Amino acid sequence: MALVNDGSDSVKLSMSVREMSVNGVEPPPEYIVKESTFGAIESTPEVGQIPIIDISLFSTSSHDSAVVQNELEKLRSALSSSGCFQAIGHGISSNFLDELREAATDFFALPEEEKQNNPLEEKQKHFKEAHRTEGYAHEVKVSEEQVLDWAYRLTLLVSPEDRRCLDFWPENPKNFREVLHEYATKLNFMTAVLFKAMAKSLNLEENSFSNQLFGEQALMTIIFNFYPKCSRPDQVLGAKPHTDGSGITLLLQDKEAEGLQILVDGKWVRVPIVPDAIVVNLGDQMQIMSNGIFKSPLHRAVTNTERMRLSVASFNEPDPESEIGPVEELIDETRPRMYKNAKNYGLINYQCFQRGQIALETMKI
Ligand code: OGA
Ligand code: NI
Repeated sequence: MALVNDGSDSVKLSMSVREMSVNGVEPPPEYIVKESTFGAIESTPEVGQIPIIDISLFSTSSHDSAVVQNELEKLRSALSSSGCFQAIGHGISSNFLDELREAATDFFALPEEEKQNNPLEEKQKHFKEAHRTEGYAHEVKVSEEQVLDWAYRLTLLVSPEDRRCLDFWPENPKNFREVLHEYATKLNFMTAVLFKAMAKSLNLEENSFSNQLFGEQALMTIIFNFYPKCSRPDQVLGAKPHTDGSGITLLLQDKEAEGLQILVDGKWVRVPIVPDAIVVNLGDQMQIMSNGIFKSPLHRAVTNTERMRLSVASFNEPDPESEIGPVEELIDETRPRMYKNAKNYGLINYQCFQRGQIALETMKI
């Protein structure tokens, strides 16, 4: 497959993932996962025992306290083992989630020219300021060894509202912006509930995490992941193994196509589809703040030959100006401080990725 240089530092493939998907073309070497780098893609790993947690129990005080305590214990146990659970009782209606998925699916179905409505220079300028590429893109090659994801992504900063860059927000389909705004509002509410519950589950004062990670200036970025069907799911990944650099990640899975896998005790397991549940993945910054008690799981997304897959991931992280670090109450003689404090972990994470380093490892004391 010939490579063409688009004039920027990145190198673009001459046939798009979409074209290869539609034509069932054998994926080129740039997409083939090498055993030495990530381990082979097993055909069908087991379904993981991912706990389902009713988070409505955390948002009101009128519930039976024994029931709430039990759910908090489930939360603590999930986050300190696999670092992942399925949240139900989040109060976001099934109809609304369908509307969001449909708006995103309609966007990705638009002709390529219509999706790339922003000039590259504008994107790059913005990227330099925000250290995160907003807008519609597929992964670009920044290093020789990098294996490319079989995916297209639309990345949008949704919070704080005054930092939104609406130029990147699709105008088509018509309801896209409104639906995304509403979803962001609902997720901000859900995030606040979760941070409090996470603190309580460790017998901490309820604002112990949210005072570092939440509030007016905290960032929330939403990434719509679109994975076209692929003729070689045994060799190609939708998303390479990674941990999220966020505080927490809230992931809405596709309704029909499974694809998310997490590494538990050295084994990949599938995260099953639970209708309307939102998968909560703990991110690196919460692992740091919890002094290593909570775990940021390694996860990946696989592709399939039958159908496209859509997921909507939202990443909550603190304002890049503020410093985060292990909560004092979680440091003692038996559990000494594990991590340094960090500012703008998003940037650290990105720089480590470029150098092939694991960001969290570089934060260890
Ligand atoms: C991510 C991610 C997994 C998925 O966007 O960080 O891990 O299932 N996505 O799409
Ligand atoms: Ni992820």
